[in-house]
Amino acid sequence: SRKGSALVREIHEKQSQNKSRQRFWEVAGSKLGDILGVEKTAELIDADTAVVGDEGEIDFNEDAKFAEHMQLKGEAVSDFAKSKTLLQQRQYLSIYSQRDELMQVIRENQVIVIVGETGSGKTTQLTQYLYEDGYATNGIVGCTQPRRVAAMSVAKRVSEEMETDLCDKVGYAIRFENVTGPNTKIKYMTDGVLLRETLKDSDLVKYSVIVMDEAHERSLNTDKFSNFFGGAPLFEIKGRTFDVKVSYSKSPCEDYVEGAVKQAMSIHITCPPGDILIFMTGQEEIEATCFALQERMDQHVSTVKKGVPKLLILPIYSQLPADLQAKIFQKAEGGAQKCVVATNIAETSLTVDGILYVIDSGYSKMKVFNPRMGMDALQVFPVSQAAAKQRAGRAGRTGPGICYRLYTESAFENEMLPSPVPEIQRTNLGNVVLLLKSLKIEDMLDFDFMDPPPQDNILSSMYQLWVLGALDDVGSLTERGRKMVEFPLDPPLAKMLLIGGELGCLNEVLIIVSMLSVANVFFRPKDRAEESDAAREKFFVPESDHLTLLNVYQQWKANQYRVDWCNDHYLHVKILRKAREVRSQLLDILKTLKIPLTTCGLDWDVVRKAICSSYFHNAAILKGIGEYVNCRNGMPCYLPQNSALYGLGYSPDYAVYHELILTTKEYMQCATAVEPQWLAEMGLMFFSVKDSDSLMLDHQKKQKDEKTAMEEEMENLREEQAEMEKIN
Ligand code: CDP
Ligand code: MG
Repeated sequence: SRKGSALVREIHEKQSQNKSRQRFWEVAGSKLGDILGVEKTAELIDADTAVVGDEGEIDFNEDAKFAEHMQLKGEAVSDFAKSKTLLQQRQYLSIYSQRDELMQVIRENQVIVIVGETGSGKTTQLTQYLYEDGYATNGIVGCTQPRRVAAMSVAKRVSEEMETDLCDKVGYAIRFENVTGPNTKIKYMTDGVLLRETLKDSDLVKYSVIVMDEAHERSLNTDKFSNFFGGAPLFEIKGRTFDVKVSYSKSPCEDYVEGAVKQAMSIHITCPPGDILIFMTGQEEIEATCFALQERMDQHVSTVKKGVPKLLILPIYSQLPADLQAKIFQKAEGGAQKCVVATNIAETSLTVDGILYVIDSGYSKMKVFNPRMGMDALQVFPVSQAAAKQRAGRAGRTGPGICYRLYTESAFENEMLPSPVPEIQRTNLGNVVLLLKSLKIEDMLDFDFMDPPPQDNILSSMYQLWVLGALDDVGSLTERGRKMVEFPLDPPLAKMLLIGGELGCLNEVLIIVSMLSVANVFFRPKDRAEESDAAREKFFVPESDHLTLLNVYQQWKANQYRVDWCNDHYLHVKILRKAREVRSQLLDILKTLKIPLTTCGLDWDVVRKAICSSYFHNAAILKGIGEYVNCRNGMPCYLPQNSALYGLGYSPDYAVYHELILTTKEYMQCATAVEPQWLAEMGLMFFSVKDSDSLMLDHQKKQKDEKTAMEEEMENLREEQAEMEKIN
């Protein structure tokens, strides 16, 4: 099990035995100092590491002899070479030179705080060092990540470094996806997964050590951490970074997508070669940037004709399929320049080597909870100064770089917060409160949070849980609440399942919840927008976007879950498959709770009722065509153009929605028309029948008045016309 470190030792021994090799090694090492093209050094390393298990002299430069000697041929040679390159890469990381010191501190302390530059090797190496030091003999080495993509990609990388299959010695677990096995010794997971595990086993006995990665994201103040753990020692990994020149925008940038595209083109055409990293806020912007950049490139190639170097444009965001995500780490073919367009995932969690140019939009998307409105909204905010510095630093990993900030220096100095607001202080705590309650932590307001969230947020979240029936009048967990905790879902969706069970439409609700737990299934390529929109419309169930999702799934099932069927209908098959997997996992949980799978057949009204039951905090009343206000707080919200509700031909008086997305306007994401009496029946604390009746009456009166006014006007017109005819 200590193969990795034994290998390292062996190489060192061989090196010191052989002076010429030692020199060779140094040459390789210094070359690595300026790896922009790793190929050259990679060759050297392959040859050099061939000394493992080798007794005689080898001619390093002759591949054939080398292969013969190692009794490896063809594919096997490159595989062998590849793995040794990884080993060499491991040894080049700055954490490697401090390994012994670091492990010593870990052995002597129960808790330690490790600080180091991004890319120094914390995430990928620490777990392996622990494993190699025997920490996995009596348990698992766990490592938490704030992001799903990071957990997946890092686990993959570490499994490659350890030459094991993913799911064997190294695995990962994210919500709805457990890729670990009986052999797993190093497990990467999202912090959410670990938190849920504490429900089953509050002492986490199966772990021998836990690495809480990216802990700084909540606060840059490391002292705070150290103090919280009673003065835990702080270990600093000395980094190896290069200077990054920062260039600001002279005037505020009106459209940062356009700004970034222009900047990237200008770098590609005029600057020395080097890969580019662009920071955008989310999937849509990333797709738009990639599309525009590709278009601009094509234009450029067609005007200049010859000799234009290639530009490989690669998006990365959390919902991107894993195989496409992996592409950003690969070297572009034929020495092409690479341009990675990323969310803030590439800020700290993922390190792409060889980046020389960073283009920073200055914004990121954050989920922010507004306790007054009692809702989460995904919103675009300026990043903090710390995040901006971190972004710039990505250009200085392998050599001096440049960071183009698409905002002014004065915006950086005066409009950006010094460090980001910890997530716990800005999001809905529904899930956290529910979990803590089930861990028998009764007094939320007194709980020893590291960064206590605002009391308003805690109270508002408790209120929402009470409304959902998860907490009782004294704030204790109810029977329903206890069941809700079992699902790795936001409280409203967990409740929807339970109500689906009670109303006899669990099968249908289960599909809807699964579809809401995955990314958007509708595929809408920019160049085929019209066809894809038409294909989408065919699935519309006029009263409901939720039922539209149900309809898509049911039709996919009726078509034997076929891939070609998905392609024909502009649906992402991978995302649908994911939904199917989520469905089966949720079904397992329902089985353990002994909730039978009932179906309502095609009587989907009752499904709408179940949907209504969990969303009445997101209920809205009609104001104008496609225009609503939230029933509770009067917040305006709009039906997006692609909502199935337009299929009704009129806007329903009441609707509930899954979430509010703030873009140019506040849009209701996934809406369903509901009956006012359902709101009254199921959410008495918000709406009395009288209230909703009077709202209804108001609305009807208004419509009637308008109709009367219009009729009067028509009548007047007719009279006028008759007068005119008489005169003529
Ligand atoms: O955690 P920290 O930022 O200190 O570094 P890391 O994520 O462990 O990255 C160490 C090295 O592994 C970097 O040079 C990355 O480029 C590389 N890496 C990779 O090639 N593929 C991954 N999926 C993750 C890391
Ligand atoms: Mg890391």
